[in-house]
Amino acid sequence: MFKTIEQKFEVSYQYGLHFTENLFGIKNTLFRDVIKAYKNEPVKLLFVIDDGVAEAHPELIQNIKTYCLQYQENLLHTKSMVVQGGETCKNDESQVEAILKAVSEYAICRHSFVVVIGGGAVIDMAGYAAAIAHRGVKLIRIPTTVLSQDDSAVGVKNSVNAFGKKNFIGTFAPPFAIINDTDFLKTLEQRDWISGISEALKVALIKDDVFFEYLEKNAHLLRERNMEAMQYTIYRCAEMHMHHIAQGGDPFESGSSRPLDFGHWAAHKLEYMTNYALRHGEAVAKGIVLDVAYAHLVGLINESDLNRVVQVFQNIGFDLSFPLSSEKEVNELLNGIEEFREHLGGELTITLISDIGVKYDVHEIDRGTMKNALDLVNEISKLKVK
Ligand SMILES: NC(=O)c1ccc[n+]([C@@H]2O[C@H](COP(=O)([O-])OP(=O)(O)OC[C@H]3O[C@@H](n4cnc5c(N)ncnc54)[C@H](O)[C@@H]3O)[C@@H](O)[C@H]2O)c1
Ligand SMILES: [Zn+2]
Repeated sequence: MFKTIEQKFEVSYQYGLHFTENLFGIKNTLFRDVIKAYKNEPVKLLFVIDDGVAEAHPELIQNIKTYCLQYQENLLHTKSMVVQGGETCKNDESQVEAILKAVSEYAICRHSFVVVIGGGAVIDMAGYAAAIAHRGVKLIRIPTTVLSQDDSAVGVKNSVNAFGKKNFIGTFAPPFAIINDTDFLKTLEQRDWISGISEALKVALIKDDVFFEYLEKNAHLLRERNMEAMQYTIYRCAEMHMHHIAQGGDPFESGSSRPLDFGHWAAHKLEYMTNYALRHGEAVAKGIVLDVAYAHLVGLINESDLNRVVQVFQNIGFDLSFPLSSEKEVNELLNGIEEFREHLGGELTITLISDIGVKYDVHEIDRGTMKNALDLVNEISKLKVK
């Protein structure tokens, strides 16, 4: 009578990351082809567009409408809604609600698509709305910043912030597809052009010394907005992130180790402490250099490797200093270590490196040494760029 019924099933996921330019140019059939591959009949589309993108690309919405008309056998445009861009959209519940309302109003069902076009913040927020509407409507992500093209949009997570904590609410929900259009990158402010490169340096430092050397050699070209160097950087970084998700053995992060969060405990805390004035990638650059300095102070890497890491970030144009003005703020930053553990659950696991391209996990962080690392980074960050 009181026997247990065991339940077990597996779900497999597959999605493509496509690269293109002029995505909604009338002759570019990629977007139509992606939808057609799902179903060869008119499919309802709700477009959610970052206001920063809409402003920088005033012709975009009209182009989308014209494109959908041209390919009306497959594409049924319902609405293009513009939402607030940047981190504030993840702090403002009304943004998620506006998308849910539109999903309801335009009868977007599980056989329809939400198509989100924007930076990582809008993609996270709209992805979360799409994931909870009808318990999940299909999502196509069209990331428009370097950070979202090389990292945040190619993975399986979405989120909004709550209770003063970043990414507190969210789901794991793989997209139907991701499309990276190079043309969007041309209108980025310089800070958004470089900020995503810190995620490329992150994966290079923990996994691939050859990629690190590429970034080292091309740091100045990247800074000067060389598109070819950027395209390769995005491609390789996205490829490594996707490979890690699929092959790392823990796509939905049930373990306590998160190598792709190298440098992120401090980054997340700093973003919060600066009221999100820092971009995610800018905070990640500081966080990585801090953990590399710590790795140096505990004897994991030598000084010349620390200098190489600092140099490449500086050559790309990152400011590595920590905007903390009191002991209280330093302590608050260090509390980020425990908050990081809480977010992942289980044992504290902080990824460091023991060589360029080689990750090294530790389960304890000495606060005193971390404070020394912070002093060291603040000292180094004042030194002149080569
Ligand atoms: N889901 C994940 O796995 C994951 C991973 C890493 C980061 N993230 C999240 O990504 C977010 C950061 O994303 P981001 O760095 O792309 O910044 P962002 O989304 O905050 O965008 C920065 C600014 O650029 C504007 N913008 C976007 N595209 C533009 C374009 N093509 N031209 C001109 N302006 C444009 C936006 O309107 C915004 O003002 C953070 O919220 C972070 O938590 C998520
Ligand atoms: Zn990140």
